[in-house]
Amino acid sequence: MFFWGAATSAHQVEGENKNDWSEWEKKNAAQLAEKAKQNPPKGGWPVYISVGIASPLNPENYISGAACDHYNRYEEDFEMAKSLGHNAHRFSIEWSRIEPEQGKFDEQEIEHYRNVVKALRARGIEPFVTLWHWPLPLWAARMGGWKKRRMAKYFARYAEHIIRALRNEVTYWITLNEPEIYAKNSYLTGKCPPQKHSILAYFKTLRNLARGHRYAYRIIKKTNQNAMVGIAKNNIYFDASPKNIIDRTLKSIADRWWNRHFLDKIKDTQDFIGLNFYFRNRIHYGFGKEENRTVSDTGWELYPEGIYHVLKDLARYRLPIIVTENGIADARDAHRAQFIKETIGHLLRAKKEGVDVRGYLHWALLDNFEWAKGFWPRFGLIEMNYRTMERRIRKSAHEYARLIAELKDI
Ligand code: BGC
Repeated sequence: MFFWGAATSAHQVEGENKNDWSEWEKKNAAQLAEKAKQNPPKGGWPVYISVGIASPLNPENYISGAACDHYNRYEEDFEMAKSLGHNAHRFSIEWSRIEPEQGKFDEQEIEHYRNVVKALRARGIEPFVTLWHWPLPLWAARMGGWKKRRMAKYFARYAEHIIRALRNEVTYWITLNEPEIYAKNSYLTGKCPPQKHSILAYFKTLRNLARGHRYAYRIIKKTNQNAMVGIAKNNIYFDASPKNIIDRTLKSIADRWWNRHFLDKIKDTQDFIGLNFYFRNRIHYGFGKEENRTVSDTGWELYPEGIYHVLKDLARYRLPIIVTENGIADARDAHRAQFIKETIGHLLRAKKEGVDVRGYLHWALLDNFEWAKGFWPRFGLIEMNYRTMERRIRKSAHEYARLIAELKDI
């Protein structure tokens, strides 16, 4: 059975989380809104983006607050996913809810996530559970977060609590979401908390994340041998002309470093690879030259074909692959349906050529809190009205549903 569905993460949809991100948001909201005012994109902020709460010019946009109130409305959201033909759903457990104080575990919150899993199962939807999708409990952040070696042990202890509680209900576990993006944004470019610029901390963070994954992997497999464990890895299609030796060399360095380094570090502790695919990077005597194609609301080039190349490259690991994220910010829903259709076409081409792809989970089920950009980028199959919390299924979501129905038995 091929897995079709969508994904979310706790901090981006639940609402009322208290962690290092929620604290950072409060301190930075005004400044982020000011920056958006001072540096609008080329041509200015489009009208369809720059009104209401979720406007980049409004400080409220940058505070996750009630988010989508998914913490209370998950049944309603899963009902919509089911009506769209989804048979799989990826979500994350919020560490700061489970362990708000170091070593103190909140049983009620564990029960909450048990109910979330039950709600999925009751609708015939396979849960894909992410243990960590970026925010840290405040105590862990105060201790220095992932750049400290001991964080790997703390993560493993948290993971153990969850796994014991859900071992019979969950088969697919994603220990970490995009460790390489996290390490880069938090410790190199300083875009996200704790906003550091330190190469040393960057490398330490990557090493400790890999350690944390390995510990968690062993715990999960000890508790349930049949569990399938992986990470969600952001891989980029580095596109270079094979004729040019400089470009080819740059591509090979980039592939090794960005796409494979972390996967190689954990290669004996993975049962599947979760692929988050968003970017092509065209190499032409340097990195990052794009061809000025159609872009999404966040300015990202739309290049569905990239997924084919990335999948083909991942085949080297001889593991099943699940696409755990792929999507675009598209407030008007102008490109999403076509983008999904083409992406799936390229995925199927890779599958036909022997790549063991077993699922496609679109990012995201709902519009949500897009980290430092706030609410304005609209990634959802379902549109959110953040004032009323009303949900409306987008046209592209229905088209995706039709595609799922057509392809059900691939
Ligand atoms: C992250 C998501 C994020 C998405 C779109 C991925 O890097 O895992 O949390 O919302 O990209 O930017």
